[in-house]
Amino acid sequence: MNSKLYSLLHRLSDGEFHSGEVLGEVAGVSRAAVWKQLQQLQELGVGVVSQRGKGYVIPGGLSLLEARKISAHLQPDVSSRLVGLDILPEVDSTNKFVLERTSMATGHGLVCVAERQKAGRGRRGRTWVSPFGANIYLSVGWSFSQGVAALEGLSLAVGVAVSRALEGLGFLGVQLKWPNDLLVEEKKLGGILLELTGDASGDCSVVTGVGLNVKMPSVMAAHIDQPWADLASLENVRAQSEPEYLDRNIIIAAILNELISMLSAFEGSGFEPYRLEWERLNAHGGRRVSLHTPSKSIEGVVMGVTHAGGLRLMVDGEEKVFLGGELSLRAVSACDQVGEL
Ligand code: BTN
Repeated sequence: MNSKLYSLLHRLSDGEFHSGEVLGEVAGVSRAAVWKQLQQLQELGVGVVSQRGKGYVIPGGLSLLEARKISAHLQPDVSSRLVGLDILPEVDSTNKFVLERTSMATGHGLVCVAERQKAGRGRRGRTWVSPFGANIYLSVGWSFSQGVAALEGLSLAVGVAVSRALEGLGFLGVQLKWPNDLLVEEKKLGGILLELTGDASGDCSVVTGVGLNVKMPSVMAAHIDQPWADLASLENVRAQSEPEYLDRNIIIAAILNELISMLSAFEGSGFEPYRLEWERLNAHGGRRVSLHTPSKSIEGVVMGVTHAGGLRLMVDGEEKVFLGGELSLRAVSACDQVGEL
């Protein structure tokens, strides 16, 4: 996104009418060029309306990401652990952005959030649908020194941290699907993607990526290949009466407060302190499921998770443990019809 377009967007984000002349001055372009620039916003899914004699408006305004606002809601000990907070109008992938800096040894404590991802990465090579100004796309780089073995269960602990943040803000009813999807009534609210770099037996870095649907435009939802939810559609919201309850800056700060505290403690504590909370949030505890690996499918009843974050499944009367990676969990309906959750 060019800087002219971004400055137009900033001015229009207040939800008020602005004349073509004023917008032209703001962006340093002619009135005709303003119209052309605003066309690009429509293509990004941002609804701009023009009215003769009044100018242009984004009805209802647009709450943009702001470093100042995110920082103002961070706990002091969390702020002090961050080396940077990059807020980008658009990026291919926030994970990729942080990963590149992590390999340059500047990624420990680096946070990146973006208004839009052009190539958002999901698990198993999927694309993460990332429209402009609608949702949260957040990545955090963190370095560890005891190798990947000490990081067992980390992705599940991230799920607990994000759920805690949402619960703290009054968004109730969020559950976790092993290993780390965020669900609401079995529909996907968010996803977590951990990417590792470095020495598997020593110094390594992890980029934790969190994608959270806040207010998904329905036109973009057509690209999502599974049942989904967003925070705006949650009914069980204690904080709904507060005008800023969907402000992404505040939600991002709440997630960072939980996430950075967890990452700081994880190498010492491991997953165990988060396990019971994970079990409480488990969307499939005690339920019959089908677990798919690239080579086979296994049916069983979910018994919970181990201290290392493995899935405990009762299969034909015998408990088996399945470790993370590229497994997926499918619910089995009464007629044995399987469908991804
Ligand atoms: C999943 O498939 O469930 C994981 C989705 C993870 C998406 C987030 S959005 C921020 C970060 N950057 C990416 O490219 N992916 C993750």
